[in-house]
Amino acid sequence: MSRRIAIISDIHGNFNALSMVMEDMEQFEVDGIFCLGDIVSMGHQTNEVLDLLYGLDHLSIIRGNHDEEVLKVLDGMPTQIKGAEHDHHVWVAGHLDLRFRPFLQSMPLIMEKKIMDLDVLLTHYHLNPDDTYSSIDMSPSVETLGAIYEDEPYDMIMFGHDHMQHHFESDRQIFINPGPLGITTNGLAPYTIMEIDGDDVNFIHRKVPYDRSGFVEGLKKENPPAMDFIMNVLLKERG
Ligand SMILES: [Fe+2]
Repeated sequence: MSRRIAIISDIHGNFNALSMVMEDMEQFEVDGIFCLGDIVSMGHQTNEVLDLLYGLDHLSIIRGNHDEEVLKVLDGMPTQIKGAEHDHHVWVAGHLDLRFRPFLQSMPLIMEKKIMDLDVLLTHYHLNPDDTYSSIDMSPSVETLGAIYEDEPYDMIMFGHDHMQHHFESDRQIFINPGPLGITTNGLAPYTIMEIDGDDVNFIHRKVPYDRSGFVEGLKKENPPAMDFIMNVLLKERG
């Protein structure tokens, strides 16, 4: 028996990218989709993205820090991020179709999955003991990641958040970041297909062409708060 799972992360309100990735995924006939958080914020296509994900079968989805901030705004709770980025989250919350609020709220911080014999952790990023995210490590390695998850029972750790694609394997664990699907410096949206066949585990790292300029144009037209910050992130090469 074999299993095929698609791994996606950091969609960031980019429907143009997500829709093309979903189309690309069809050829692999996946048994499941793992989504690692930061579904909304930065991109303007909040409701289109949530609408597409909401209807998916076999979706395992967790929240990211941006989703968390938007939920806090909706709940009137104190937020972590201040300034223009906070104003941006208020803007996203204000544009959210409220029928998607329970869907966002239902996304847990982490998820543990069993695939065939493998214990898999889905987390937006590495968590501190108090469930806050640790600071971003811009150049992780199999050693640093192995040290973080040394005492954890997982065979595989999947994360996003740093907006880079990673694939590290040690004797004991595999670490995967499929890359930031919606935050790309070019018109190629990254995601990963995992194939498990008996003891064999293979990964295919895909990069799917999408209408990035249409996305950026649409975003500029909407002109949400923190546009300088967003454009800076969109234009920055990482990893
Ligand atoms: Fe992100």
